[in-house]
Amino acid sequence: MVVRRRVDDALDDLKSRREEGRSGGGTRRIEAQHRRGKLTARERIDLLFDQGSFEELDPFALHRATEFGLADQRTLGDAVVTGYGKVNGRLTFVYSQDFTVLGGSLSEVVGKKICKAMDLAANSGAPMVGLIDSGGARIQEGVLSLAGYADIFLRNVRSSGVIPQISVILGPAAGGATYSPALTDFIFMVKGTGQMYITGPDVIKAVTGEVVTHEQLGGADSHASRSGVAHYSLDSEETCLGEVRRLLGFLPQNNMEDPPRYDAFDDPTRSDDELLYIIPDNANAHYDMTQIIGHVVDDGDFMQVHEAFARNVIVGFARMDGRSVGVVAQQPSHLAGVLDINASDKAARFVRFCDAFNIPLVTFIDVPGFLPGADQEYGGIIRHGAKLIYAYAEASVPKISVLTRKAYGGAYIVMSSKGLLGDINYAWPTAEIAVMGPEGAVNIIYRDEISSADDPDAIRNQLVQDYADRLVNPYIAASHGLIDDVIDPADTRSKIISALEMLENKREELRNASMGVFHS
Ligand code: HXC
Repeated sequence: MVVRRRVDDALDDLKSRREEGRSGGGTRRIEAQHRRGKLTARERIDLLFDQGSFEELDPFALHRATEFGLADQRTLGDAVVTGYGKVNGRLTFVYSQDFTVLGGSLSEVVGKKICKAMDLAANSGAPMVGLIDSGGARIQEGVLSLAGYADIFLRNVRSSGVIPQISVILGPAAGGATYSPALTDFIFMVKGTGQMYITGPDVIKAVTGEVVTHEQLGGADSHASRSGVAHYSLDSEETCLGEVRRLLGFLPQNNMEDPPRYDAFDDPTRSDDELLYIIPDNANAHYDMTQIIGHVVDDGDFMQVHEAFARNVIVGFARMDGRSVGVVAQQPSHLAGVLDINASDKAARFVRFCDAFNIPLVTFIDVPGFLPGADQEYGGIIRHGAKLIYAYAEASVPKISVLTRKAYGGAYIVMSSKGLLGDINYAWPTAEIAVMGPEGAVNIIYRDEISSADDPDAIRNQLVQDYADRLVNPYIAASHGLIDDVIDPADTRSKIISALEMLENKREELRNASMGVFHS
């Protein structure tokens, strides 16, 4: 007779407990999850991590609540799966809310599991990704559940600027629960299933009478294009988690590291004549700045952030000779690339992120100024525009800019100018730097001459031409050291790469703003 050893029995018991935990809320609820068009917490984890690399934490955690029938509703691991694994070979932590267990609601124990993973991520200096699909605070647990959210918010804040934090909204995120994602660096949402709002459609209807659907109010497209709460709106969970992996590839593990450098296949000295033909001859005609970015960065690979929001400014990640860079640029084909409230917020936030995580900034400038209008003034354009000045002035990462066409007025100063400690400021020969465009300038400084002339239009045109010839070019700024060099557009890539190499060991203590600029 074969005698079973105690350890074999114990292993069988462990295995069956694990299997029980892995089935979450059970077959019926998993099927319901799939019918809703959603994957389970574990299927999502499989998509996020390199195959077989995930290590789970606390799979045997159980909630302690007994009220409202909860004593009979205990699921191993409760309503969240937590742990760590590798994303493209690099350590990353995750919590993945399990909607099949009490609607993914946040109990005291769920909060503690999430916080443990967050603490490990912060202490090991690795990114934290939250996969969110939850009915919010577990109603039956009352204040303990609210306290769990407070513990998460605190960690979100303490880890801000220390490790990258990403939130992926794959189901509901309602009420105060939305504030954890809002405190993280990037929010990804899936169309049709990911929804975020402080108060849902029913409450809104009761309070204000407005009728709005869940998707209109808090869906991925609404947040990616209107509110700006979400940075990405994607069609499926598979694509979404693939993009999270892609984004992590541009980022360092924490604020003490540089971003990873990859072997580049794109020639760093590549000259590109097509850059000569993107800007139209007519100074007021539009062009698409993403074309310029695409020709300059490695392999044309540019991952925009906030693509659908405040489209007059472009921000995103790319690589130059294998190094990650944060790109900020105007988009002349949308509102002429003007700076307004949303564009200022979008760019300022991105600049601050790059500065916190040692990602050099490459800025492409073509800006006619700040958007005029009572709406903008009442909305606080002064307050919002100031954030962008603050962000650029404070950023100590390498700052390289390329002025492709216009830089007028305050917007010239804001966009990584020498005065705000831009390290290298290049201009294309087509660049114009002035307090304002020639028409506006002439109308102000020659008002009397124009109004008293026999032929005001003729004299105005002549004065505009004269003003443009004398002042609107890059050479005056270059003669004062405010532009470091005027470059052939075809050489933009090699010039930026060379500047990035030169600045590789940049360490900025508090520099005097006038350093590097000639004064007469
Ligand atoms: C406990 C919950 C729950 C919750 C859902 N469930 N939310 N259990 N606490 N907060 C349970 C449901 O009872 C149900 O259990 C299961 O999860 C699935 O929910 P359904 O309603 O069947 O799913 P669906 O139709 O897809 O609707 C999802 C939902 C809805 C929109 C999230 O469940 C909902 O409105 N829930 C309440 C949301 C809410 O008000 N939460 C509090 C927000 S305030 P069974 O057993 O039937 O399957 C908040 C404060 C945070 O979170 C403050 C932080 C500072």
